[in-house]
Amino acid sequence: MAEYTIKVRRFLPESGEGPFWEEFGVELDPSLSVLDGLLQAKDRDDGSLAVRCSCRAAICGSCGMKINGQSGLGCKTQIGEAQELADKKASALGEAVENVPIVIEPMGNMPVIKDLVTDMESTHWTKIRRVTPWLLPHGEAPEREYIVEPESMIDITQSMACIQCGACVSSCLSMEADPDFIGPAALAKAYRFVGDPRDAETVERLHDLANDPHGIYDCTHCFSCVDACPKDVAPMDQIMRLRRRAGEEGIEDPNSGHDHEIAFVKIIEKKGTLDEAMLVQESYAPGLKGKLKPSKRGLIETIKSLPTIIRALRRRKVGPMKAIPGTHHKLPGDAMNDVRAIYKHAEEHNEEFNLYIKGDEGELAEIEAEEAREDAAEATATPSEETPNG
Ligand code: SF4
Ligand code: SF4
Ligand code: FES
Repeated sequence: MAEYTIKVRRFLPESGEGPFWEEFGVELDPSLSVLDGLLQAKDRDDGSLAVRCSCRAAICGSCGMKINGQSGLGCKTQIGEAQELADKKASALGEAVENVPIVIEPMGNMPVIKDLVTDMESTHWTKIRRVTPWLLPHGEAPEREYIVEPESMIDITQSMACIQCGACVSSCLSMEADPDFIGPAALAKAYRFVGDPRDAETVERLHDLANDPHGIYDCTHCFSCVDACPKDVAPMDQIMRLRRRAGEEGIEDPNSGHDHEIAFVKIIEKKGTLDEAMLVQESYAPGLKGKLKPSKRGLIETIKSLPTIIRALRRRKVGPMKAIPGTHHKLPGDAMNDVRAIYKHAEEHNEEFNLYIKGDEGELAEIEAEEAREDAAEATATPSEETPNG
């Protein structure tokens, strides 16, 4: 048994007050879950503490929440591990690692009904219905079931593992910026049917998702949903599969999303790392190596991107040299050979790569702490009213 302090972000709509933090002391074996801690606090200290749960075994998808800022399932997160992460974050912020509370909040990107209970209907389920989450076969229905080769279903088994917990939606950075983004869970569900050999409306589905300005090209490839998903669905990978299928079908989208993706691939093949200053022009008027054909749209989009570039310069996310197209250096000889070998291997084996570059966990905590400091400084500069959604 060990003692823990859990710090819960509460919201009691009947009180008429805004959200507030409350701490509870709990006593549990470290191998038990954060959800067990919450249920103990509810049982011993305050029966009004609201949390949604059912199976307590990572099956029903009810107990999505944020633990130390990370979206996931309360019943799948051991309280001992949550404490270790809380201590690590405090240490990275230079705070004393003693009696550090485990911070528990409702899921993000959705309204809060009460305490840790969020409104899944208005965001998650509405978006799931948006992608027509059922089979659309053509022709006469067979007398019994549709027969398919087992191998033809392998591609969609990963998306079929989803338990609709909403953790990916909670963590999605694109959805924070664009609440209308269809989002990781619904797009993973869309791939479940696009990849199904029994579905006869694959091309229509792809046109729909590519032409929606909040569709497959609205994902910024940030990996947050991959980290959050407790069932290894890797929603971002499913979105990349949808994009690949749309590209194979030659579907042109209004945002040049497919060309933008090809631009990434071509620039890195050419230079070894990403020359971000080339991206806009290359996305709207493709053709590297002196074959650039400046187009009206390319120029308009370049001008439109200037405020973003200026903001990045001011926040020192890029240096002045990186903002000038064509000044980005190629990697030195050996390293370029390695990059070419990766491309060659991918082409020969028709493989999909998701390069997930991470430092060690200490480094990651430091980066997160630095970002938290920047956000806190910005929040102080522009005070805003707190809402239940945080
Ligand atoms: S990878 Fe895409 S879908 Fe996943 S969290 Fe990031 S922006 Fe959202
Ligand atoms: S994709 Fe993963 S995180 Fe998203 S709803 Fe499904 S199981 Fe939950
Ligand atoms: S209680 Fe069912 S997934 Fe956590």
